[in-house]
Amino acid sequence: MKSLVAPSLLAADFGNLAEAVALIERSDADWYHVDVMDGVFVPNISFGMPVMEFLARSTTKPLDVHLMIVEPERYIEAFAALKTQILTVHLEASRHLHRTIQQIHAAGMKAGVALNPHTSVDTLVDILDEVDLVLVMSVNPGFGGQSFIPRALEKVARLNQMRKERGLNFLIEVDGGVKDENSLALVQAGADVLVAGNFVFKAQDPDAAIRAIKHTRVR
Ligand code: DX5
Ligand code: ZN
Repeated sequence: MKSLVAPSLLAADFGNLAEAVALIERSDADWYHVDVMDGVFVPNISFGMPVMEFLARSTTKPLDVHLMIVEPERYIEAFAALKTQILTVHLEASRHLHRTIQQIHAAGMKAGVALNPHTSVDTLVDILDEVDLVLVMSVNPGFGGQSFIPRALEKVARLNQMRKERGLNFLIEVDGGVKDENSLALVQAGADVLVAGNFVFKAQDPDAAIRAIKHTRVR
């Protein structure tokens, strides 16, 4: 089994998004990681529906949408209509997470839950059976290009242990500061999906950067 690589479009050149899409389409990347920020849940605003509409009509690989917004349940249908395959909401932004996950499933998407660096993976104990993916934030959400917080590695290992103990098969995704130097350790700890923004889009050779963090793994 291989780790999946999801380049984060946040680090792409927005003056030439079509080129970023062409790059991901032809590369070994598996998913598009799409960071939607509202300036309330996080101190930054990224992009919204017009960019999603462009992605929905110009991509073939799955759209992995990471919502960094308050009241994410208000937008479930809108993202489903725009070809989103995996919709991830923050535990810290969801008052009724169980219901939100049910709504994401009812809209035909995979449901992910994201955890900020300060949130323990143990907070997921009563919801793990319901989720398709857990996104471990390895930086504070809001900006690309930050340094990886090493504690994330232990969170991945603990989640992997919980997954094995309970016989579950949700995916573990890591987001923030991922690069060649830390990717193998993450995959060995149990990560299935690596998100990378700057490491891919600021690289001299983005195709090679994607290959560099796509490890073959045995689980
Ligand atoms: C941060 C976003 C990340 C970000 C990662 O809030 O969720 O997806 O784009 O960027 P890098 O890989 O540059 O840390
Ligand atoms: Zn993200």
